[in-house]
Amino acid sequence: MAIYPVVQVPHPALITPAKPVPHVTPHVTRVLDNLRDTLAFVRGIGLAAPQVNISKRLAVVDTGDGLGVWELINPELLEGRDERLGPDACLSIPGVVGETRRYEWVRIRTWTRDEEWVELEAKGLRARCIQHEMDHLDGILFTVKADRLYAARTRAGAQALRVLRMPQ
Ligand code: NI
Repeated sequence: MAIYPVVQVPHPALITPAKPVPHVTPHVTRVLDNLRDTLAFVRGIGLAAPQVNISKRLAVVDTGDGLGVWELINPELLEGRDERLGPDACLSIPGVVGETRRYEWVRIRTWTRDEEWVELEAKGLRARCIQHEMDHLDGILFTVKADRLYAARTRAGAQALRVLRMPQ
């Protein structure tokens, strides 16, 4: 088990597209395990490899909805429905919340650790988090997409963070 340090803006890894994973090697498996441990340690809801300065298309998501940790390996968006504005926050941009347009429902495909494509459907916060993490893999931060940014310390920010269950 290892806990990675999470990099913060303006670290260049956060705005650099991550490389596809050609094979799920023992190294990739170890990175996934460590991403899971790090996500639990920081009590976040999602973490992408570029946030720990690893240029691989890997992310983990666990939005506390009972569905557990989803591992994303080379994920691709297949379909999205019902765009709406909602709060985004990020471990790499502490203290900032942004009203960001995301699909309320998504269908994606991702590799499993066995290198098999599986389709997953998600809604609500899990769908929002998946889109946020997939943006990380393209080097895109919510702050460039958000309609409005505000400090997490403000009343609106605190309310948004409760929705996200994200400690600051
Ligand atoms: Ni983030």
